[in-house]
Amino acid sequence: MFTENQIKAFENIKTPFYFYDIDLLTRTLDKLKSASEKTGYKIHYAVKANAQPKILKLISSYGFGADCVSGNEIIAATENGFPPDKIAFAGVGKTDEEIEYAIQNDIFSLNCESFAELEIIQQLAEKAKKTAKIALRINPNLNPNTHHYITTGLEENKFGINLWELEKLITDLKSFNYLELTGLHFHLGSQITDLSVFRSLCMKVNNIQNQLLKKQIKLPHLNLGGGLGIDYHKPDEHSIPNFELYFNIFKKFLEPIPGQSVHFEPGRAVTGQCGSLISRVLFVKKGITTDFAIMDAGMTELIRPALYQAFHKIENITARVPDKIKKYDVVGPICESSDCFGKSIELPETARGDLIAIRSTGAYGEVMSSSYNLRDKAGSYFSDEI
Ligand code: LLP
Repeated sequence: MFTENQIKAFENIKTPFYFYDIDLLTRTLDKLKSASEKTGYKIHYAVKANAQPKILKLISSYGFGADCVSGNEIIAATENGFPPDKIAFAGVGKTDEEIEYAIQNDIFSLNCESFAELEIIQQLAEKAKKTAKIALRINPNLNPNTHHYITTGLEENKFGINLWELEKLITDLKSFNYLELTGLHFHLGSQITDLSVFRSLCMKVNNIQNQLLKKQIKLPHLNLGGGLGIDYHKPDEHSIPNFELYFNIFKKFLEPIPGQSVHFEPGRAVTGQCGSLISRVLFVKKGITTDFAIMDAGMTELIRPALYQAFHKIENITARVPDKIKKYDVVGPICESSDCFGKSIELPETARGDLIAIRSTGAYGEVMSSSYNLRDKAGSYFSDEI
C-alpha cells in the first residue's frame, strides 16, 4: 500500500526502481525482537535476502547477528554493524580466501557441509594458528513442501552432511585440534508456509541430539536455519509474519539440552514485504486472448517469476479508471519468453505511462538482479528519504 505522496514522488524517479518501506521494516523488526526475546532465541538475519547497506544497518541496530554465504557478505555484514561473533557462515563451496577471512575475524561459526571441507578448515586454521569455531550442517532429509528449487533439506540435495555419516564424523573430528565443534545447523528450504514442517524438524533434531547424548556429545548451540514464508498473495493483510506462532512451535517441540542456545536465520520473513519493484508501462499491445502490458522492468530486475514461477502481486498504482478491470499478461522487455511477471492478471485498464508495483520483492529481488541485455542497474529508494 502506498501513500498519495509516495506515488507523487514515484512519478519523478527513473523507473524501474526498488522502493523500501522503512516503517514496515522497523515494525517487522520490532515484532521479531519481542518474539525472539520472549523465547530467548538468537537471530542471524540471512544477508542473502537483501544486502542494502541501509537495511543491514537497521537490522544490526536491533542487536541481531547475520547469516552469510560468501566472504563479501561477511564484509558487508561487518561494515554495516554486525559483530563478527554473531556471524554464521554457511555454503557448500567456501573458497580458501573466504575461510581464511572468517577464521581471522573469529566469527560465530563456520557451518560445514562435508568432511573434505573440515579438512581444509583444519589446515587453514593451523596455518593461521587460530581455532575455528564450526557447526555441522546436517541434512535432515525432510520435505519442506515448497518449490523444488528452494528445497535444501533432502538427501538428494547438495546441502549438508547426511545423518548416517554424522557420528563417525564427530569421532574423526577429535583429531582436528584447530577446530572447535560448537553446534549443529539445519536449514530445510525457503518460503515454507506449512508450519507442521518445522514441528517435524524439531522431532528430527531431538532424535539426533539423543543419539549424540548417548555418546556424551553435548554441543553449545543449535541453529535451525531460516525458511519462514510470507504471504505473497495478501501483502497488505499479512505484512508482518507471525514470528510468535513460528517460535512457539520450537518452544513446544524442540528439546535443547540445558544451557544450549537456539539460533534462527530468517531472511525473507524479515525483508520480503518491505520492498516493491516500481515499473512503468511502456506499451499495451493487443494479444489474442489477453493484451500484453509491457513494462520497463524485466527478469533482470526480478527473476523470481521466471526462475521459480513465483507469484508476486501486481498493482497498477496510477490507474485512471480504477473500476474498469481487464486482464493482462504483464511482461518485461527482455528477449526471453520467460520474462513474464504474470499471465492473465486482472488490473484496472492500463495505459502507457502507468506505474506498476510488483509487491513483496524486498527479499531475493534486488540481490538477484543482473545486467543481462546490458541493462542499467535499477535504483533503490527508501520511504524515509523521498
Ligand atoms: N539459512 C540458510 C542456510 C539458507 O540457505 C537460507 C536461504 C536462509 C537461511 C534464509 O532463508 P529464508 O528465511 O529467506 O527462507 N532465491 C530464493 C530463495 C533461496 C534461499 C536460499 N537460502 C527465492 O527467491 O525464493
